[in-house]
Amino acid sequence: MQKLIINGGKRLCGEIRVQGAKNSALPLLAGCLLTDGRTVLKRCPELTDVFAACRILNELGCKCSFRQGTATTDADSAAGFRITEELMREMRSSIVFLGAVLGRHGRCELSYPGGCELGPRPIDMHLSALRQLGVKIHEEHGRISCTCPRGLKGASISLPFPSVGATENIMLAAVCADGDTVIHNAAREPEITDLANFLVRCGADIKGAGCSTVRISGVKKLRGCEYDVMPDRIAAATYMAAAASTGGELGLTDISCDDLQAVTSVFEEMGAAVYSAGSRIFISCKAPLKAVRIIRTMPYPGFPTDAQAVVMAALTTARGSSMMVENIFESRFRHVDELVRMGADIKVSDRTAVIQGVKKLCGANVRAHDLRGGAALTIAALGAEGTSSVGCVGYIDRGYELIENVLSSVGADIRREF
Ligand code: UD1
Repeated sequence: MQKLIINGGKRLCGEIRVQGAKNSALPLLAGCLLTDGRTVLKRCPELTDVFAACRILNELGCKCSFRQGTATTDADSAAGFRITEELMREMRSSIVFLGAVLGRHGRCELSYPGGCELGPRPIDMHLSALRQLGVKIHEEHGRISCTCPRGLKGASISLPFPSVGATENIMLAAVCADGDTVIHNAAREPEITDLANFLVRCGADIKGAGCSTVRISGVKKLRGCEYDVMPDRIAAATYMAAAASTGGELGLTDISCDDLQAVTSVFEEMGAAVYSAGSRIFISCKAPLKAVRIIRTMPYPGFPTDAQAVVMAALTTARGSSMMVENIFESRFRHVDELVRMGADIKVSDRTAVIQGVKKLCGANVRAHDLRGGAALTIAALGAEGTSSVGCVGYIDRGYELIENVLSSVGADIRREF
């Protein structure tokens, strides 16, 4: 089992070029299946989840190669419509291949997706929306078989919750459907806008992405293109939390400041100085930080659930008492017990965590239970006194490109032990 060994207490200082967004690269890779000819995705982060998406494309017969941050696909020979259970289990985002495979072949067979254990992660909204587009669904022994006897037909779909994954699946299925599709109560996350921008560059007709109502007029074909994956707002939030936890100063480049507003306002409330302009952010944190009254995770533009754990890690040593309410997932506090091992004072009741700031954390042996929780333990260890080991790094590698190299480039004492 690989571990990160971290000697804490080093103030981080310097500049980080933030990676491309995992949560955008995965649906974009699924979208490549719909295009004729070659598609080149630049700034594609080198992550285990991205490699899993490439393996799914290969399994479907789509050529996919990955070199130095660029994924190149050629879907001309992608005749497959089945995804094995083994590949489906590798990550939650494997489910967005459903909309793309249906869009291409009008049929698809796959299993329930895997991914980090954050409580129940149903796909009922995805399936119900696809039914409205004319898909017949048959479930047996954990396999889901989908066919479209009369082809995919545009429809007006109202989502009961602005689900990111369901919005992506509808967009991917609807871009080449017959007629118009309207998604009401669509997710407004920047990753939805990025998927729409990519599909439009391939020839799709999509209006309103980033708003609650998205309109898609089906087109006959999509063609390959070159596209840059958007910056990873959660990686940016994680490095801001690293600056906060170590009383450091970091410049983050190649990001989109607008996408980070809910997060930057929390760091400002903690007493950090944050300057942002266009694609750069500078954060300067002089310890001790201040507690924040309450943070509620919400769909975009609210505070992102993916940033909850890393911000909590920074709050463990803030002066006063902070409260975090997790509204998106039922079981997203698995990092709390590990933070407590490092000396944090956190009490969880149902979906609420109360963090009473302590003077300092102490290095300890801890273990990641999920991607963002693992990043949170790394942040806590950077600010702690003494040495920590963070086990199960595999979770962290799903979402962060060589996190130990990035952090040591700005002064952290961190190495990977194999
Ligand atoms: C969610 C996050 C996304 C984040 C990703 C990875 C939100 C709104 N979504 O996306 O920002 O990047 O996790 O951590 O913050 N649900 C259903 N039925 C469905 C689909 C979803 O009940 O068919 C429920 C989920 O159980 C959950 C909520 O809706 O409570 C979040 O859903 P959704 O946005 O679909 O999750 P992801 O696409 O995984």
